[in-house]
Amino acid sequence: MSAVLKQAIIVFRPMSEMDLEHVMEIEKGVYDFPWSIGIFQDCLSVGYCCWILEQNDKVSGYGIMSVLAGEAHILNLCIKPDLQNNGMGQEMLGYLIDLAKVHNADVMFLEVRPSNRQALKIYERSGFDEVGCRKDYYPAKFGREDAVILAKQLTDKM
Ligand SMILES: CC(C)(COP(=O)(O)OP(=O)(O)OC[C@H]1O[C@@H](n2cnc3c(N)ncnc32)[C@H](O)[C@@H]1OP(=O)(O)O)[C@@H](O)C(=O)NCCC(=O)NCCS
Repeated sequence: MSAVLKQAIIVFRPMSEMDLEHVMEIEKGVYDFPWSIGIFQDCLSVGYCCWILEQNDKVSGYGIMSVLAGEAHILNLCIKPDLQNNGMGQEMLGYLIDLAKVHNADVMFLEVRPSNRQALKIYERSGFDEVGCRKDYYPAKFGREDAVILAKQLTDKM
């Protein structure tokens, strides 16, 4: 973790509709195929875990997770481009893992592009293992890209 993060004041708080302008700015800045604002609105309205990471009172990242029947799924995890590589992605992931445990999830799943080395790094470091692959899952600049399915056991029971 870098000195920048150590000095920064990091706060996690629930996302609201009022955050979506900032969220969409980050979303469009990081993904070639960003979610629409409607997808975020749906996540809020169905009651998914939608959390904002604030650094020094500014929206700096967010995480979206569903928890159902003992399974947590990370659906989105983003850090503002100019703030990446300072440990905040790992912090946000750790927060979602703790939250999933609070919601009694036994296992956590997510999909990631195999080309997304930065994301794979934080997932591997947090103890996720590869459990499968979804062929041609993501749109890509040229054709489609597979998704790697990662899982992390959160409790002893399966
Ligand atoms: C994935 C993401 C959330 C990580 O956030 P972050 O704040 O950069 O993460 P961290 O700083 O905690 O850790 C990133 C690590 O990846 C490493 N890294 C960066 N680029 C890398 C690369 N090309 N290959 C391998 N590792 C890389 C960094 O060095 C850092 O490791 P370190 O702490 O050992 O130095 C962020 O990059 C992001 O928002 N990406 C765009 C959205 C996205 O892809 N989300 C995940 C969807 S599954």
